[in-house]
Amino acid sequence: MMEELSLHILDIVENSINAKATRVDIDVDIDKKENLITIRVTDNGKGMDSKTLENVRNPFFTTRTTRKVGLGVSFLDEIAELTGGELNIESKLGLGTTVQLKLPLDHPDRPPLGDIISTLITILLTNPQVWIIYRETRNGKAWEFNSKDVEGLLEDYAWLGKIKEVLYNSYKEFTGGELI
Ligand SMILES: Nc1ncnc2c1ncn2[C@@H]1O[C@H](COP(=O)(O)OP(=O)(O)OP(=O)(O)O)[C@@H](O)[C@H]1O
Ligand SMILES: [Mg+2]
Repeated sequence: MMEELSLHILDIVENSINAKATRVDIDVDIDKKENLITIRVTDNGKGMDSKTLENVRNPFFTTRTTRKVGLGVSFLDEIAELTGGELNIESKLGLGTTVQLKLPLDHPDRPPLGDIISTLITILLTNPQVWIIYRETRNGKAWEFNSKDVEGLLEDYAWLGKIKEVLYNSYKEFTGGELI
């Protein structure tokens, strides 16, 4: 299991981008009084039909063609189970998807939030066309990043997304999609 929630957020946003989302909202709410961290990722991607939605937590379910298991969502389910949290997924075909994870802050098995900036940078550099809004609230204060604010700077990095695609395809040809 991954050690940082920020890496799970990266995974969930990758799902959104794979689902052709053009905008992804990431909301993180840290409420010490309620002893709760809430992570919500909302996208305007293609959404899921009821059969996909039913199966999305199953580690052996994926619509990817690059490998046989889809672990992103099942990991979140596992963390929720382990810590007495909850995972909610809502999706409307053609409209988009919301993935919401609520975890008790003080549970010893709750992964740390981790390096959220690194996650944002990774998303932006490899998907410069996607509009990302990250909002975090904690201790009664809010912090927001809107990728529109750096849109001009991102144009110079469009080649990174291309390299990612080329590497993924070439590596897939080499591994045959085998998961080790
Ligand atoms: N935001 C989303 N929009 C539309 N479909 C989604 C979304 N998130 C997940 N899915 C569907 O659920 C499936 C399972 O997702 P999951 O992240 O668990 O695995 P994966 O993305 O297929 O593989 P992996 O995360 O291991 O690379 C996906 O293949 C996709 O069909
Ligand atoms: Mg995934």
